[in-house]
Amino acid sequence: MAGKKEKTVFFCQNCGYESAKWVGNCPSCHEWNTMVEETVRPEAKTNAPSAAIAKRNKNKTPRPINEIESGEENRITSGISEMDRVLGGGVVKGSMVLVGGDPGIGKSTLLLQVCHNMSGSGHELLYVSGEESLRQIKMRADRLGSFSGNLKIMAETDLDDITAVIEDTKPELVVIDSIQTMFNESVSSAPGSVSQIRETTAVLLRLAKSLGITVFIIGHVTKEGAVAGPRVLEHMVDTVLYFEGDMKGAYRILRGVKNRFGSTDEIGVFEMGETGLMEVENPSEFMLSGRPENSAGSLVTCCMEGTRPILIEIQGLVCETAFGFPRRQANGTDVNRMNLLMAVLEKRVGMHLSSHDAYVNIAGGMKVNEPSLDLSLVLAIASSFRNSPVGDKTVAFGEVGLSGEVRAVSQTQQRVNEASRLGFETVILPYSSLKNIKKPGNIELKGVKNVAEALEAAGI
Ligand code: TYD
Ligand code: MG
Repeated sequence: MAGKKEKTVFFCQNCGYESAKWVGNCPSCHEWNTMVEETVRPEAKTNAPSAAIAKRNKNKTPRPINEIESGEENRITSGISEMDRVLGGGVVKGSMVLVGGDPGIGKSTLLLQVCHNMSGSGHELLYVSGEESLRQIKMRADRLGSFSGNLKIMAETDLDDITAVIEDTKPELVVIDSIQTMFNESVSSAPGSVSQIRETTAVLLRLAKSLGITVFIIGHVTKEGAVAGPRVLEHMVDTVLYFEGDMKGAYRILRGVKNRFGSTDEIGVFEMGETGLMEVENPSEFMLSGRPENSAGSLVTCCMEGTRPILIEIQGLVCETAFGFPRRQANGTDVNRMNLLMAVLEKRVGMHLSSHDAYVNIAGGMKVNEPSLDLSLVLAIASSFRNSPVGDKTVAFGEVGLSGEVRAVSQTQQRVNEASRLGFETVILPYSSLKNIKKPGNIELKGVKNVAEALEAAGI
């Protein structure tokens, strides 16, 4: 092997595109300056299969499709119902799950809690950390509660050692924290590089499928929101979950981005506390806690997170500008959308906002970019401008068009039901949505056709 010349290839660190020579602009994802030279040894890939492949090839033969038994996947509960919900009803045996998220968001904590619950109910697990020492893991574990000896922990980054341990002890579930720290000797580039991540994942994938072991891989996320390094990782695994939220706020959302065994519409909501992550079974109540009473500029809307309606508070603050150029700021939503809606208020309702600073904020640190938010933004801004509070018991949602018309949004019934469930008395919604709705309880539904009608319905 030593005599052979090593080949170098350029990989895009953003999307994993492979190129024989350096280029400034990636032809695949069009990012600039992302190509990094990495050494690949072709024989490592083709001529030297790992022991696992050699063993597997002998007794694996293709089977006719009609002889294969179908049926439900074999699932086990993770012991955290919000996690089970996002996975589509529990952890599928032999599947590979990627958990991505910003550093410090709580990925290690979440998976250690999964380990806590699953080892407590008798499953044999292995937690491999390339980031923390055994003592550090133990210190975190102590905050989460007492653990069963069914959970083995290991501080290791060498993939050969890890696969040997997995093959030897055959745990039911393995957590790899994180894929960016793992090192495969047959690939000469540094840990965290595209070829390392890809090869390491491929080896783990083979192990997971051949031994029927579930593997959870933790991956850090880049500023752009993709798993650091290659997107190829997302194609290889069965399920991709993102753990996100405002680092300073308490809540975290676990979101399915890809799932071969279920829908990606589900989210799990957690709260980071003293003793780890707690499930939030009632996100609306959580988001609305601490809401001001009868305050101008504050309003509740209902947005959809997957199939779950969540009530959130929108706050608007409009005040006269001290400078010639008014400030506009949006926290948790798109500032351009806010500018557009203010222009609609100015033109269609005659509200003179151009000499005013305006701020909007989504309380609780949620990020929402749904069109259904429009109506509540308009009402919050108008309510603050006119210093006239919208009732505490009112929810508003709907899309606002450039002519000031209020347009229908999806899943109206769920939104109305959620408002009714939490004791709201009035819902201001698009007029065209009214006809398809069954009124839950004695909630009052006010259908509006345009912004002017909405202001009237809200009593602003
Ligand atoms: P961590 O799981 O280490 O994040 P990641 O693996 O995604 O990088 O979690 C990090 C944060 O969570 C850390 O800043 C401390 C906080 N934390 C709590 O607030 N309470 C707890 O019980 C634990 C274990 C962590
Ligand atoms: Mg971590």
